[in-house]
Amino acid sequence: MRHVSVGLVGLGTIAQTQHLPNLALLSALFRVVAVADLSSKLTTAIADGLRGPVFTSTDWRDVCARPEVEAVLLLTPGAHQQMTEEALGAGKHVFSEKPLSLTVAGAEHLAALADRTDRVLQVGYMKVHEEAFAGLVAGLETIGEHRLIRHTVYHPSHRSQHAHGGLLRFDDVDPGALEADVAYQSGQVAQAIGDLPRRWDDLYRKFLVGSVIHTASLLRASMGELPRITHAEMWPPAPAGSASQPSSLFFRGELSNQTPVEVSWLWLPSFPAYRETLEVHGTEGSAEMSFPQPYLRRRTAQLTIRHPKTPVRHLGGSETAFVRELRAFHAAVATGQRPRDAHGSAIDLAWLQEALADLAGRAAGTIGGRAGPAGPAVPRGGGAVAPRR
Ligand SMILES: NC(=O)c1ccc[n+]([C@@H]2O[C@H](COP(=O)([O-])OP(=O)(O)OC[C@H]3O[C@@H](n4cnc5c(N)ncnc54)[C@H](O)[C@@H]3O)[C@@H](O)[C@H]2O)c1
Repeated sequence: MRHVSVGLVGLGTIAQTQHLPNLALLSALFRVVAVADLSSKLTTAIADGLRGPVFTSTDWRDVCARPEVEAVLLLTPGAHQQMTEEALGAGKHVFSEKPLSLTVAGAEHLAALADRTDRVLQVGYMKVHEEAFAGLVAGLETIGEHRLIRHTVYHPSHRSQHAHGGLLRFDDVDPGALEADVAYQSGQVAQAIGDLPRRWDDLYRKFLVGSVIHTASLLRASMGELPRITHAEMWPPAPAGSASQPSSLFFRGELSNQTPVEVSWLWLPSFPAYRETLEVHGTEGSAEMSFPQPYLRRRTAQLTIRHPKTPVRHLGGSETAFVRELRAFHAAVATGQRPRDAHGSAIDLAWLQEALADLAGRAAGTIGGRAGPAGPAVPRGGGAVAPRR
């Protein structure tokens, strides 16, 4: 098995809790040869802990330009449109943490670029790499006609999830260094959702695209499609939600065969622990998968199929989804397989925009301003959300 030489961009929470330790675990497959972060102290500290010579920079473009880098892992906050475009353009394979993009057109563009350059473009949808996931898909065939699909996330605050600490952090980042990226991402959100007020911006970027996108990837991978959204709600209702304290979100929808789907994303800031379940209830039994908190290492999803003749209990296996997604990335680079993740991302983003349109349309009856019924028509860019009224 040959080594793939990787460069990492962004060395914060997910890099330190998952990807760096997992790359070390998979040292027979990967060699980290370059790292970049806006924090020079963090970059040096991480490089010092790695084996062999490691190129360091505070500019992600330097990593994309290094000839010894075969693949880049994009682990910075927010979407990875520009970085992915540049890395693919430089001939690198790309693993992008989710979200890949903020717009449908952006994800489609990157998917086409990866196809054209014949590079791997994998998105950090690690949940579908859980060992038990194949058992779930197989189990869905055994439980009769599906009557209800339900995905529920009990989401404590991010701060409480990192309470185990131990992360390297420095305060040497020039705030000005983030300005261009923040402006770019705001422009992308505006293209995606039009001129809705700022709190829709945060809801879309941080919570729908930042978190609920995992629900989309799971439903798409397990059901083969995403449900048409028939009803979306938030509680407490807008404008109670804020950038740091969002409302909880509830969607109802149906698959093309009319199976009902319920999605609940519950923001429970002081809830004792993250919980996430995907349940499918059928006429002959049910399947339930429970997923671990993403920042904990060594935890895997567990699967229970309740069926009178063919029950299944899968305790999750020995390798985490984060490790398995890196194995899949290596296999894709080494064998020439090309994941369809970027195409899937475009589908996921369109679905999240559909949900936002429903939420915004419902809130338009209760709020004033530009999104309200008395407000002017909301100007929209290509692929932007049009609130349903
Ligand atoms: N798969 C999952 O379940 C999961 C969980 C958490 C986070 N994530 C994703 O991982 C990514 C990073 O999240 P995080 O929680 O680690 O963020 P973080 O803020 O903890 O760390 C990000 C790091 O990137 C650096 N950075 C920011 N902009 C940069 C730039 N332009 N160039 C170089 N470095 C830059 C920062 O200095 C920081 O060290 C996000 O895309 C997030 O969605 C995925």
